[in-house]
Amino acid sequence: MPSQLIYLNGEYLPLSEARVSVLDRGFIFGDGVYEVIPAYGGKVLRFEHHMQRLNDSLEAVRITNPLTNEIWLEIINKLISDTGSADQSIYLHITRGVAERDHRFPENSEPTVFVMSNILQTVEPEILQKGISAITLDDIRWQYCNIKAIALLPNILLRQQAIDKGAMEAILIRDGEVTEGAASNAFIVNQGIIKTPPKGKRLLPGITRDLIVELAKSHNMPIEEANISEKEFLNADEIWLTSSTKEILPVTRLNDKTIGSGKPGPVWQDMYQKFQDYKETLRK
Ligand code: PDD
Repeated sequence: MPSQLIYLNGEYLPLSEARVSVLDRGFIFGDGVYEVIPAYGGKVLRFEHHMQRLNDSLEAVRITNPLTNEIWLEIINKLISDTGSADQSIYLHITRGVAERDHRFPENSEPTVFVMSNILQTVEPEILQKGISAITLDDIRWQYCNIKAIALLPNILLRQQAIDKGAMEAILIRDGEVTEGAASNAFIVNQGIIKTPPKGKRLLPGITRDLIVELAKSHNMPIEEANISEKEFLNADEIWLTSSTKEILPVTRLNDKTIGSGKPGPVWQDMYQKFQDYKETLRK
């Protein structure tokens, strides 16, 4: 998409013309945070929740939010309307800015702000019919996984290990418990009860995760936010992975073993439909 319009530091310009200094701390140190926000029918899903998480990430890395929520929304809406009527995923990226290479925080750097919107690739029907395969791996990441940091090398290495083994996602285990996927949150269903690990520093507080917890509660589906041991996970009736770009994916093979019946389970079917219904309310 060479003529794609993007936002960079106060300007709208074609992606091909966008330039950032090689001394940007995002480039040099991975010193920044980001958000990925889906938009359906031109409407942003859970804007306030994404802004709250962005603020939490910024606060955790001690970068002052350079824009107000009104301005963020204005930028996002402009890029959405420029990209067209398709469902989209908005990528929003803030770094500590350009400064001489030095680990300590620079005194006067201006944060670099980059926003783009891309067409959201829908999950293929075959995946929804058959489910995906995943593998479990040791969670080798740092201790602040609640921050949506742009420094994603561990996540990338983990995801690639899964892909190299013919799987779609790596599901991570720390101290014998499931934390999350390399770029997704994890859920299980056992005897009809949905379970997802509690929020904390071991995982990203996924906006999709929170929405699913809310949908389950509002429809009286039994749900628990509780630790999931590796053993419990491996023996689950259903496993789901959630994210803003993939919604809710059913995992039907884990470490080359079949999960449940080997097909996406009934509780997933139910929740997937509720999620689609929720999205439809946005389009109206
Ligand atoms: N990633 N955990 C991790 C480590 C993630 O990177 C993501 C999302 C999630 C799910 O969060 P949410 O439901 O808010 O998308 C959980 C995005 C999509 C990405 O990096 O592209």
